[in-house]
Amino acid sequence: MKAVRVRKEIAEKVRRELEKMGVKDRKRRIRFENGCVIIPVNDDFELVSGEYEIIEDRNPMFRDRKNFREILENIAGFYPKNADLKIFGDVGIMKLPQSLFQYRNKIAHEILKNYRLNSIWLDRGRHGMERKPEITPLIGNKSLVEIKENGCIFRFDLRKVMFSQGNQFEKMRIAGLVERGEIVLDMFAGIGYFTVPLMKHSKAKKCYAIELNPDSYGFLLENIRLNGLKNVIPVMGDSMHLTPENFADRVIMGHIRCEKFLGVAIDALNEEGWVHYHETTPEKIIERPLKRVKRQAESMNAKILEISMRKVKNYSPGVYHVVVDARIRKN
Ligand SMILES: C[S@@+](CC[C@H](N)C(=O)[O-])C[C@H]1O[C@@H](n2cnc3c(N)ncnc32)[C@H](O)[C@@H]1O
Repeated sequence: MKAVRVRKEIAEKVRRELEKMGVKDRKRRIRFENGCVIIPVNDDFELVSGEYEIIEDRNPMFRDRKNFREILENIAGFYPKNADLKIFGDVGIMKLPQSLFQYRNKIAHEILKNYRLNSIWLDRGRHGMERKPEITPLIGNKSLVEIKENGCIFRFDLRKVMFSQGNQFEKMRIAGLVERGEIVLDMFAGIGYFTVPLMKHSKAKKCYAIELNPDSYGFLLENIRLNGLKNVIPVMGDSMHLTPENFADRVIMGHIRCEKFLGVAIDALNEEGWVHYHETTPEKIIERPLKRVKRQAESMNAKILEISMRKVKNYSPGVYHVVVDARIRKN
């Protein structure tokens, strides 16, 4: 049995290349040996790069369970791009393309054999400004979950509110930007996705957390309590109408469709402050979010002192979820 031996500094890059070439042997585990990483490959693999060597794998470690990809490949014959399995504690939510719906129960039972789960749901998307999830049960019906992320506890009901695992880095990045004594506004607080890590890991003085959906608001209150947070001011309602003016050092706009709230966010700032504006944008018009923030500031006679944009995650093929950080001074 063949494997590739590679320095650990470049192991992740090589793993991805091998995965892309379809030559990585998924039945065996990747392992460390004498400071190197051993990546199992198929027997017909030939050397294509000078960055690693091919060895005989004398101590193969076989995986004892199938992953989601292997389950789909076995049942459907391929792994579609938009398939996904998210795990929240002992509950799984599976996303499948319509063409594989016919196999959904078979796939769910196979998942159950390979993962320690209580319930499995089928994800049918999110709807409206409240981003309400639509999920249907395949096995079991547990939907109330509690997870730990970045040292914070989040309790929520998967049937009622969304939870995005792809924004983990962004949540901690924002917490890291907040300076001692800041007053922060979270305009789309949800169950506390940004508010909780921010108040747990920064020295902010206060965070106003506005949330429209009563279900999410209920879990926001619970998560504030579970994480022992003191200086959060939760507000239930529409941030378009409830946001006060001239009080915040930083405004988080963590909703991917909130362009029309930009004016309210700038109004909420003290004389000077930061706005973190989220949007999903096709790669072809990647500058659109930057332009929207600049245009809004200009229309209010406000000055942009600093502006940059970063990718939060891939949203769909050719579409990115990005965040614009803008430091703005009002006149
Ligand atoms: C997309 S979710 C937040 C996702 C979160 N940023 C994350 O990282 O997972 C947006 C939240 O904004 C809330 N929302 C939508 N419109 C609102 C409004 N006008 N005022 C306050 N909250 C609103 C929704 O109910 C939802 O809980």
